[in-house]
Amino acid sequence: MVLFNTSVLVAASLLLVGWYTWKYLSSPLRTLPGPRISLFTSVILKYHEFRALRTRYVHNLHLQYGPAVRIAPNEVSFASLGAIKEIYGSGGSGYDKTEFYDLFKVYGRRTMFTTLNKEDHAKRKRILADRYANSNIMKSQSLDGIAERSRRFIERCSQSVGRNIDLFEGGLHDYAFDGVTHQLFHPHGSDSLRNPKDEDIMKQVAFDDSLQNRLIQYYNPTLHKIIGQALSIFAKPRETPLADELVLSAAQKTDPAQFTLLSRMQDKVYNMNHMDMAAECLDHLAAGIDTTGDGLCFLMWELSQPRSFYIQRRLQEELVTNPDVSFDKLPYLDAVVQEGLRCFPPIPMSLPRYVPLGGRTIDGFFIPERTIVSSQAFSAHQVDQTVFPQPSLFNPERWLQEEGGLDRKRLFFAFASGGRGCIGKHLALAEMKVLLRDVYSRFTTFPDEAMADEDMEMSDQLISSQPRGKKCVLRLEPIENNTPS
Ligand code: HEM
Repeated sequence: MVLFNTSVLVAASLLLVGWYTWKYLSSPLRTLPGPRISLFTSVILKYHEFRALRTRYVHNLHLQYGPAVRIAPNEVSFASLGAIKEIYGSGGSGYDKTEFYDLFKVYGRRTMFTTLNKEDHAKRKRILADRYANSNIMKSQSLDGIAERSRRFIERCSQSVGRNIDLFEGGLHDYAFDGVTHQLFHPHGSDSLRNPKDEDIMKQVAFDDSLQNRLIQYYNPTLHKIIGQALSIFAKPRETPLADELVLSAAQKTDPAQFTLLSRMQDKVYNMNHMDMAAECLDHLAAGIDTTGDGLCFLMWELSQPRSFYIQRRLQEELVTNPDVSFDKLPYLDAVVQEGLRCFPPIPMSLPRYVPLGGRTIDGFFIPERTIVSSQAFSAHQVDQTVFPQPSLFNPERWLQEEGGLDRKRLFFAFASGGRGCIGKHLALAEMKVLLRDVYSRFTTFPDEAMADEDMEMSDQLISSQPRGKKCVLRLEPIENNTPS
């Protein structure tokens, strides 16, 4: 019996060694730098994903292995400008998206964001892009909406002067939600900064905790179908009935303002049905809340730190001495926002794409077709220190230097790049700048002492990132009383 067991064990070990050797020798990705284990299994990557730490894990691999790193048997991450141009820009909109984006389907259908191939994407983008063009965002009706929301945010701040205010729970996501619904379907947008019922809708979309559930759905759809019910006890599924109701009802309105996305989609020439319009609206709504809201959270937190007081002071000086200059003509405000998005990109993680038929050479490595390749903004903004020296230092001044300006712009990946880059970029930038202008021309912000550093660490969601402690507590003081020195 013992002999039998030993023979079985030896045979099994030999088989295992043989399998590993074969896997190693046959892997087309074996010449790429990366941890050896990633040739055989993706289990380590998945482990970090489930713990909401994928971005950090991939970034640490870049720091260890360089700008090209194998992270799983069929997956490579890149952090160089050349690779970003190839993956996201070749042929205009780069390589096709992977099935990862199926997780974001709305009402079972594909929106612009979830279309996988170029042709379907281009068709939808031709309809929608016009409403997010800078020229449309800078129109008075669109801007008035942003300015009005910012005034409401300031009202809320004024009521909290001298006391602590949690900007994560209590304001920035409301502001982003109201801003995006204004652009989607004014006059039927939300008012979550003043109406608790609307705030409940926002919370359902923004504070959802479905990362683990959706990862299981992605990696093993069959298992997810079988154990879905039981699984939801431990890992919540994504459910947003209040937001569904909002967009389904808004998409039926016949009188949206002309500058809105809904008015564009309702144009008969585009032949979009009610569900397609609602799906697109819900998608943009979700895309516009966490990103802008969390981006502002991280940035205002950093500005409130004693190490950044000199930056806050310089920003206040620019704002106070230029009260009549438009928010998009203030160079220091622009530099602060750019640097905020560089250091704390709201979508910091890999944006996966398939290598096209025939394979491609990226960063000097031949990568076979159907390999998943990606770049993540967090690493693109840190790995090349000739473009971003002292990469972990929050230093808006770097954006004001003429030298290297073009390289910095090219490697800036917070909104991705190429034809599938963020369509809401101009809206997001306008929202961020208007709010920061209104806050920092009135107040000085300080961190609440009860906050721990870990509270503001990056915690991955499915694609975006939020403060790990799910709070961002600051104290606001009127500017004349308390200017940081
Ligand atoms: C600071 C705020 C924002 C950041 C950092 C951001 C970032 C991004 C990134 C990185 C992508 C590419 C995602 C991918 O390829 O997987 C993207 C796409 C997209 N974003 Fe944003 N976003 C922001 C705000 C917004 C807003 C306010 C809206 C809508 C109103 C929006 C709507 C979209 C849409 C619809 C796409 C898909 C574009 C396409 O597939 O062609 N985003 N965004």
